[in-house]
Amino acid sequence: MSKLRVLSFAISIDGYGAGPDQDLNHPLGVGGPELMEWFFQTRVWRSMHGQAGGETGTDNAMAEKAFTGIGAWILGRNMFGPVRGPWPDESWKGWWGDEPPYHTQVFVLTHHTRPSFAMAGGTTFHFVTEGIYRALELATTAAGARDVRLGGGVATIQQYLRERLVDELHLAIRPVLLGSGEHLLKDIDLRALGYECVKHVAGERAMHVFLRKRA
Ligand SMILES: NC(=O)c1ccc[n+]([C@@H]2O[C@H](COP(=O)([O-])OP(=O)(O)OC[C@H]3O[C@@H](n4cnc5c(N)ncnc54)[C@H](OP(=O)(O)O)[C@@H]3O)[C@@H](O)[C@H]2O)c1
Repeated sequence: MSKLRVLSFAISIDGYGAGPDQDLNHPLGVGGPELMEWFFQTRVWRSMHGQAGGETGTDNAMAEKAFTGIGAWILGRNMFGPVRGPWPDESWKGWWGDEPPYHTQVFVLTHHTRPSFAMAGGTTFHFVTEGIYRALELATTAAGARDVRLGGGVATIQQYLRERLVDELHLAIRPVLLGSGEHLLKDIDLRALGYECVKHVAGERAMHVFLRKRA
């Protein structure tokens, strides 16, 4: 049975998964890129952007694993882009250029309908307005025997956590303080929800912490 997995999701020491005031020039919010410094240096990230080189240590291995065995993705609308409210047109196609790094079907949660569209490299974006359970159902079907990766952002992961639908949560904790932004575990008691920490691995620029839902 396919699992719902949050993988390589970066947070600051003070718990933020994105900086404040996301807009076109700040996809991760103001200060947010500091969260992803562990990823930006890896060979995985560089090859996703058509660049050679990059580090091949623990952080890279963690990033590589996070793309393995994934048959579909679920994203929140803000992770997909900075456009808010009804879609003014269909010109926004994500932050990632002509060939997004997903290479699967991707289900974007939103309150605003929009037709699906396909991108180069096998990524198709679908827009789901019927809530988190419907998105999970569609993604699970699309994933077949593989797992569903819940990419984020924060508001989307929180909803799935509150419903105990996330099977695994891999956080890349960066040794930085953001001070403000989107707080991943605000008002969420993971312990009471039945999650436990099963492993932690020190990478070059982040501590990788793995949580699992108890059966
Ligand atoms: N730290 C990391 O590793 C990481 C990873 C991914 C993303 N991020 C960052 O996280 C930030 C985005 O997170 P976020 O918390 O602002 O937003 P988000 O979870 O990406 O998206 C929230 C939006 O998605 C739509 N949505 C969510 N749940 C829905 C539901 N049940 N039904 C219908 N629509 C629903 C709503 O949009 P509408 O009402 O407008 O349709 C909602 O405002 C970005 O800055 C992104 O770069 C960080």
